[in-house]
Amino acid sequence: MSISYNIGILGATGAVGEELLTVLAERDFPVKSLRLFASERSAGTSLSWQDQQIKVEDIEKADLNGIQLAFFSAGGEASKRYAGRFLEVGAVIIDNTSAFRMEAAVPLVVPEVNPEALEQHRGLIANPNCSTIQLMAPLKALHQVAGLKRVVASTYQSSSGAGRKGMDELRDQVIKVLRFEDPNTKVFPRRLAFDVIPQIGSFEDSGDTNEEEKMINESRKILSLPELKVSTTCVRVPTFIGHCVSLNVELEQGFTMDEINQALEHAEGVLLCTDNEWPSTVDVVGQDDVWVGRLRRDRSVDNGVNLWVAADNLRKGAATNAIQIAECLIQKDLVQVKLS
Ligand code: A2P
Repeated sequence: MSISYNIGILGATGAVGEELLTVLAERDFPVKSLRLFASERSAGTSLSWQDQQIKVEDIEKADLNGIQLAFFSAGGEASKRYAGRFLEVGAVIIDNTSAFRMEAAVPLVVPEVNPEALEQHRGLIANPNCSTIQLMAPLKALHQVAGLKRVVASTYQSSSGAGRKGMDELRDQVIKVLRFEDPNTKVFPRRLAFDVIPQIGSFEDSGDTNEEEKMINESRKILSLPELKVSTTCVRVPTFIGHCVSLNVELEQGFTMDEINQALEHAEGVLLCTDNEWPSTVDVVGQDDVWVGRLRRDRSVDNGVNLWVAADNLRKGAATNAIQIAECLIQKDLVQVKLS
């Protein structure tokens, strides 16, 4: 008989929470029971999952006994606040926030790229930043061809990267602007409707935003290349779902474009668009692969390549990657908290 698990989702009413529910069902994840948690704001409401109506519980008041595997997507503060309680009852946590990603003892995993990191887990596993996730399989493929020397990534990130409230703000702003009214701005630093914003997160002393620093630090950790030169500019664009990244990569050694094409074509989780095809956000919504297009040599340097990478930030950039991590844990018999 195959084993199934008692699952909990913290942040179940959010944009990623909703996607977690969809992907769990789609992938026929071995669920014995499913419990949904959020704040007192939505406690008592119900969400439908397969043929069940499941009540959302207030995480503050919930008895967590019995939960074996928990997905967190309620923001970094909630992750820090509630991780201890889940670990105490022996649950393994897959955390979608940045709360623990850079802690040395916490594996930061994209299953197609560094599944071996899961073997060291102590109950907490981090799901990387959405824009970071979608670059990892293409970058690993390029690294295997000729070694990564320097990566320059410019992102085009959708409003759902800021959760359901981000999408709601963009929708409300679009309606107001079309009515020649002043739109409200709360989630984003400036009006997003009909504009682009080259600031995601807050500014660090370096001048980078924390989103840009996340991409730099997380890429190095996942690829096990602590010295990798990475430069990022993260831009919010007025789309709802799907992030795109313009990626410029310098490689250590010479290569043929045929070798690069082959490597990307065979990279797990990557869909390479050929000829002059290229993916937009519309193409990737609802998809789990990372789509690559506009692949071409960068003739301004010795060993350079340019590519365009698009993915569904709520799926591969969040829910799907988290569930793939859980599937990997099951496969490796690692759904347990090792205390020493
Ligand atoms: P709630 O519906 O109770 O506000 P999104 O990223 O789409 O904005 O969703 C955030 C998710 O995280 C929601 O499910 C939200 O629940 C939940 N959440 C936010 N803050 C907390 C908190 N302090 N405790 C528990 N859940 C929280």
